[in-house]
Amino acid sequence: MQILAKFNLMLITVFAFGLIAVCLVTDSLLKRNAQQQVVDNARIMMETALAMRGYTSKQIKPLLDAQNRLQFLPQTVPAYAATEGFNALRQKYPEYTYKEATLDPTNPRDRATDWEADIVNQFRNHAGQAEIIGIRDSATGPSLYLSHPIRITDASCLTCHSTPDRAPATMIKEYGPDNGFNWHMNDVVGAQIVSVPMTLPEAMARRAFLTLIGSLIAVFAVTLLVLNVMLTLLVIRPVTRLSRVADEISQGNMEAEDLPVRGRDEIAGLAASFNRMQRSLKKAMAMLEDS
Ligand code: HEC
Repeated sequence: MQILAKFNLMLITVFAFGLIAVCLVTDSLLKRNAQQQVVDNARIMMETALAMRGYTSKQIKPLLDAQNRLQFLPQTVPAYAATEGFNALRQKYPEYTYKEATLDPTNPRDRATDWEADIVNQFRNHAGQAEIIGIRDSATGPSLYLSHPIRITDASCLTCHSTPDRAPATMIKEYGPDNGFNWHMNDVVGAQIVSVPMTLPEAMARRAFLTLIGSLIAVFAVTLLVLNVMLTLLVIRPVTRLSRVADEISQGNMEAEDLPVRGRDEIAGLAASFNRMQRSLKKAMAMLEDS
């Protein structure tokens, strides 16, 4: 096998093993990173929903209290503001969904499903728990969720959520007196839940993985090409020429060309020594012929 083929074979083998090792290590790392990034985004969105809640109850609702007595405006309800605000956000991030899953909701669309109720109950049973992150199987495949408890910490919430007779009559007219009442201070009544299909972090991880592997292969291909060109120009060509001249001399051709001596590297040294040897040999032969 030629020296260039040996070099290439060895380098490609080493690279292939290296690439397999990189794949094994980075695959799970990139998946973890992508998942973390999605959870971080979900957390920011959830905080945004919370901010919309606070803004609505502190600034919007007081302005419209009088109006509410004539006709109930859901726009003054913190939960409504958060859900609507999130729906607007979803136009840009359609994969993310938000729900204020509640065990006894005022609006039936907020009723906690089985798995959501499990989360709410977990928050109820573990007072210190501030966040639950998990992956569950949904109808459309695995889904990642992030959830925070909704705890009644503000007495103003109880105007509408304690007993129907305390709530604005216009609200009862809209929503009825049966749901969303008998909540108490410090109760966990529900959970904010942001869900994202796992296909999103998986696609992010796959994109990062392909970019990384693609760039590694490209860098290796260029390195291999440069190495091949350098090896051919600096070593293989001069050595082939040297072997051809050595062949000619061994067959008695003392007039064979001098080898070019370029630069000061090992190959140039070898060519210079060879030329000297050829000249000495020529002199020795001439002396032999003279005597
Ligand atoms: C002006 C009355 C009013 C006040 C004050 C109010 N809520 Fe509500 N709340 C409602 C109404 C009405 C809904 C249903 C909104 C809808 O149609 O989505 C609701 C919905 C909710 C929901 C979603 C689940 C459900 O019941 O449909 C949660 C959670 C909630 N409120 C918690 C709170 C908290 C916490 C506070 C205090 C910061 C609060 N609410 C203050 C009237 C009120």
